[in-house]
Amino acid sequence: MKKTTIALAVAASIFGAGCAEPVSNDVKVTTKPQNILIAYYSYSGNTKFAAELIQKQTGGDLFEIVPETPYPSDYDACVSQARDEIRSGFKPQLKTQVENFDQYDTIFIGTPNWWSTMAPPVHSFIAGHDFSGKTVIPFVTHGGGGMADCEEDMQKAAVNAKFSKGGAFRGSNIRNSEEAVAKWVNEVISIQMEEVKQ
Ligand SMILES: Cc1cc2nc3c(=O)[nH]c(=O)nc-3n(C[C@H](O)[C@H](O)[C@H](O)COP(=O)(O)O)c2cc1C
Repeated sequence: MKKTTIALAVAASIFGAGCAEPVSNDVKVTTKPQNILIAYYSYSGNTKFAAELIQKQTGGDLFEIVPETPYPSDYDACVSQARDEIRSGFKPQLKTQVENFDQYDTIFIGTPNWWSTMAPPVHSFIAGHDFSGKTVIPFVTHGGGGMADCEEDMQKAAVNAKFSKGGAFRGSNIRNSEEAVAKWVNEVISIQMEEVKQ
């Protein structure tokens, strides 16, 4: 499918027929643009790029998860600090807070794959919120390891959330992945639409 067609399909499924109103007798649209949050942590920009694509495709609000203390700019130092933090279950303090978290029904949560799991600031973000009644959609950028344990570890951390199918994208190729991201967004939004069918 062409990029524009996918974007239109996503837009139609989200924004269709006045958003909050039923679009047919048996489908109630409960997902409005202002109900979607795209929260992400990104060390070197790939996950940020993915988050911005999702934002463009859904019209949701973007939120960058920023740790109080940034990770070292030296890659090897970052890799070794991350390994230690992940091993010990360390959750860093965050610098940023979501305003009115309660207003969101659907939360895309993005992380780089760090040592096969989510980056510690993402763990802090999840631990700091109550996900009852919310749907979480994980997305990951990686260096070849794919989703690994990221989705499963997010599920363990956000026990009250409902989860929808996560997306994993190779970080080095993310700038050429608009179509793949749009296809996945369209799919997860359609799954949600199916689930609210009455
Ligand atoms: C600390 C650290 C650990 C990483 N561990 C993995 C890994 O286990 N598997 C993998 O595929 N990529 C790994 N990567 C590569 C990143 O997942 C990949 O480059 C990602 O796209 C970076 O996203 P970002 O630019 O948003 O930070 C690691 C990168 C860093 C900095």
